Amino acid sequence: MNILIVDDESLQRGLLAGFLAKQGHAVVEAASGEDALQRFMAEPVDLVLLDHRMPGMAGDEVLARMKERNPLVRVIMITAYGAVDTAVRAMQLGADDFLEKPVDLQLLLARIGAIEERLYIAGDAARVEAAIDTAALPVKLIAASPAMRHVLSLVLRAAPSPWTVLLQGETGTGKELIARLLHLLSPRKEQPFVALNCAAVPEGLFESELFGHEKGAFTGAINRRRGVFEQAHRGTLLLDEVGELPLAVQAKLLRSLQEQTIRRVGGEQPVPVDVRIVAATNRDLRQMAADGNFREDLYFRLNVIAIEIPPLRRRKEEIPELVRFFLAKFGSPAVLDDQAMQQLAKYHFPGNVRELEHILQRTVTLARSPQIGLRDLPPEIREYRGPVAEGDLVHRLAEVERQLLIEALERHQWVQTRAAADLGISERVLRYKMERLGITKKG
Ligand SMILES: Nc1ncnc2c1ncn2[C@@H]1O[C@H](COP(=O)(O)OP(=O)(O)OP(=O)(O)O)[C@@H](O)[C@H]1O
Ligand SMILES: [Mg+2]
Repeated sequence: MNILIVDDESLQRGLLAGFLAKQGHAVVEAASGEDALQRFMAEPVDLVLLDHRMPGMAGDEVLARMKERNPLVRVIMITAYGAVDTAVRAMQLGADDFLEKPVDLQLLLARIGAIEERLYIAGDAARVEAAIDTAALPVKLIAASPAMRHVLSLVLRAAPSPWTVLLQGETGTGKELIARLLHLLSPRKEQPFVALNCAAVPEGLFESELFGHEKGAFTGAINRRRGVFEQAHRGTLLLDEVGELPLAVQAKLLRSLQEQTIRRVGGEQPVPVDVRIVAATNRDLRQMAADGNFREDLYFRLNVIAIEIPPLRRRKEEIPELVRFFLAKFGSPAVLDDQAMQQLAKYHFPGNVRELEHILQRTVTLARSPQIGLRDLPPEIREYRGPVAEGDLVHRLAEVERQLLIEALERHQWVQTRAAADLGISERVLRYKMERLGITKKG
């Protein structure tokens, strides 16, 4: 597990960190509550060991803020010996467990084990994901790969909550589809779903688009107009391409989110609004925040529950089902033969699912018979030969090897034993090659 240890005493912190690292956990340390919150946002954390008494921000507050940002995080509070009331309060604030100082290491291990067990049950990929009945969902979508079933299981858990969801994924991966699904699975489903594409709004009109304007607020404001916040009242507001919001507008948006009121342009009175926000972007907001191009406080406010939608090239096993889905959607009797399907699966789909949809549309429109073969595919697919490798033979071979390894690993969800068996090499050789070729998960 990824464990964050928060304690102002470096000796105690070091002791716990050393012990847990030896047990095979990935450990991050923080010396104060403030430091802990920063680490928490910057790194993947499953479990926090949180000292209750610290100078500066106290454990209670750190706990509350972490839970606000990620309700799924697990926290063990470390309290003074005999401080039962503190422990009770910590549990009420959402701590999963508490331990008294001095920490009994064996007890700590047992507690971590229990939490791990619960995490597995709560998030048990196989169980939750197998139980997802895509036919019963209010939106038709394909989620045949483990990666997409994982996305769906997050969606099912996040939808009923009031929390803001940040959807990140490349263009055409289905962010808008997932946003609609979040809405339709929420208690707000009878209320409006309103989407604002932030990339399509001219800079000067953002405020009016978001918050509306009063009659005569500016030249051209002939009538009073409601902004998307008011249109989405009691429902869900999708802020699409949220990375495109100008900084000045970000500040106003943040204030509205915090105060749950808006002010129309040219209006005097604050208007209360009740909206669930879903934000979507194909940009790396965290990086943008680090570079000063996106407000960090707004990023934290939007990123309460983060859902990352994987690109199609990382879930190629879904392609045959997507093909059938789209052909049925077009009402086409066409069928792709094996060769065509295989060539399609080789392609890297920079435009993701949308690109696949368009390719199929074009193909079935132009094909002479419903039997679609290689020759019917558009040239960019037909002639696609995999990522081009530059340089001499050695480099090109290395690139091919790299591709084969990554493909095998992805086929087996990065379980190295199985990928190695598939490739007909030992796991040790696989690990050696991965290291030499710089292959890591995600990369
Ligand atoms: N899993 C899926 N099953 C079926 N159809 C899908 C799936 N994912 C995406 N699509 C379809 O692909 C198209 C693109 O999806 P969508 O508009 O949601 O992508 P997006 O991530 O919002 O893209 P962009 O970043 O370009 O706005 C839509 O027609 C959508 O219905
Ligand atoms: Mg979109």
